[in-house]
Amino acid sequence: MKMIRAILRPESVDSVADGLAEAGLFSMTKMNVFGRGKQKGITIGTMHYDELSKVMLMLVVEDGKVDEVLKLIKYKAYTGNFGDGKIFISPVDDAVTVRTGARGL
Ligand SMILES: Nc1ncnc2c1ncn2[C@@H]1O[C@H](COP(=O)(O)OP(=O)(O)OP(=O)(O)O)[C@@H](O)[C@H]1O
Ligand SMILES: [Mg+2]
Repeated sequence: MKMIRAILRPESVDSVADGLAEAGLFSMTKMNVFGRGKQKGITIGTMHYDELSKVMLMLVVEDGKVDEVLKLIKYKAYTGNFGDGKIFISPVDDAVTVRTGARGL
């Protein structure tokens, strides 16, 4: 299993979530976050904003689904401008469903 954390523009998240659901990936967690990337925020006119409002979409999927998820996020979240988002992928040792005690997804 892999955990995918995608930090995206708030306006792209619904489209990404819909795409994931269409692909049968319904389970996910969304968080409102603030962050900055390589540009260290953004300057608009004379104002510099150190941190920008983003949404972090977190989902854990089977290894075989990772490429599909990355492709989908790239397709749905891409504008070609700075700040489209960043995706982090990490291994997940195990998962437990509280209701049943079942291990795995
Ligand atoms: N190295 C990082 N560690 C943790 N969070 C990050 C990192 N890079 C980016 N982020 C988070 O992802 C958000 C979106 O990053 P962003 O799309 O601006 O990445 P970037 O690397 O600057 O790419 P681009 O040059 O396309 O803007 C940031 O606002 C921040 O919350
Ligand atoms: Mg950036």
